[in-house]
Amino acid sequence: MNADLVIRNARVLTCDPARVGLGMVDRGAIAIRGGEVAWVGPDADRPGATRVVDAGGRLVTPGLVDCHTHAIFAGDRANEFAMRAAGRSYLEIAAAGGGIGATLGPTRAASDEALVAMLRGRLDAALAAGTTTIEIKSGYDLTLAGEQRLLRCIAAAGQRPAPRCVPTLLAHLVPPERVADRGAFVLEVCDQLIPRVAADELATSVDVYCDEGAFTLAEARAILGAAKAAGLAVRGHVGQFADLGAAELLADLGALSADHLEQVSDGAIARLAVAGVVAVMLPGACVQLRLPVPPVGKLRAAGVPMAIASDLNPGSSYCEELPLQMWLATTHYGMTVEEAWLGVTRHAAKALGMPRVGTLETGAHADLILWGCEDPATVPYRYGAATSLIEAVYVGGIARHATPRPVET
Ligand code: NIG
Ligand code: FE
Repeated sequence: MNADLVIRNARVLTCDPARVGLGMVDRGAIAIRGGEVAWVGPDADRPGATRVVDAGGRLVTPGLVDCHTHAIFAGDRANEFAMRAAGRSYLEIAAAGGGIGATLGPTRAASDEALVAMLRGRLDAALAAGTTTIEIKSGYDLTLAGEQRLLRCIAAAGQRPAPRCVPTLLAHLVPPERVADRGAFVLEVCDQLIPRVAADELATSVDVYCDEGAFTLAEARAILGAAKAAGLAVRGHVGQFADLGAAELLADLGALSADHLEQVSDGAIARLAVAGVVAVMLPGACVQLRLPVPPVGKLRAAGVPMAIASDLNPGSSYCEELPLQMWLATTHYGMTVEEAWLGVTRHAAKALGMPRVGTLETGAHADLILWGCEDPATVPYRYGAATSLIEAVYVGGIARHATPRPVET
């Protein structure tokens, strides 16, 4: 085989489930052809290639997968951050007119061009920190037409080759102007919005925020039922503040993921495990809102796969960088370094239903990071340093972000 590109003299962290643990191939090499991983193995056995990169014995990993973001919005809520720092709670601030409702005005008022430009800025920041696949939820307009507009803007921003963008329709809240007839609003979401989004292929899944102050369990059941009927995958924001029983609903529906889970019962954990639902940990939001840590030990013991995401949003987690979330997951959630890596690679890909990202196995997309360090633990250990630790980020076998140092010969 003559490959397009071989990265040699590398510690290749494959995250391949067919290998043990993180699937590290020490003194390894990876060959890329046609944008795919064509071969991974010992450096001594590497195939010939048109271009060769010498990794100098350093780490090569899959590109990171951020499986939960709200990256399309206008304005910011730094004022709320200051209020929380002074002791007010997220729910208190939301009830007083802040929270998600405070992002609606600026987002609705922003032009398509402005929204796309702001989103692209965030995508660039995520790519520079190693994210090669990113999920982006709608949810900051809340009207039927407005949510479709946000999904169209996500599609427009995602026209570029990197990172790969995955759009999700989020039923975030009942909009303030519809609280008096919320039942009718939920019916419109089910009977009009979801079928239109599915028909226009504007999203691949539907997420619902089922918690105190958001949708009830009955409303979430109706919304996710409509999503399944329209042929879309389902997931949910559940148990961030209160356990309304939505994790059980997600297990029953065979959801891709259950996200947050600060509050979740032992029975629900068992059902998530049986149903193969990914638990998405969002430690940035958890720490910033000073919430209790989710029951990581119980999720681990039950065999629930755990992903880790940024939850990038203007309220609870304004952060594009997954390596920082890996640091919080290891230091604050008690996850191991191995769990942190799987959380931002293979398990995050599972939460998106995307088998060809998140690992470096033959046939996967050649999305990978060339690091300036050797030990996988260095990435969370040197928190805040990701952008300087990363030497190059490849998407589909092409370097889409690189430090000024030349890496190819
Ligand atoms: O995942 N919990 C609901 N949604 C977001 C926060 C959104 C916001 O505050 O703007 C979350 O934390
Ligand atoms: Fe979220």
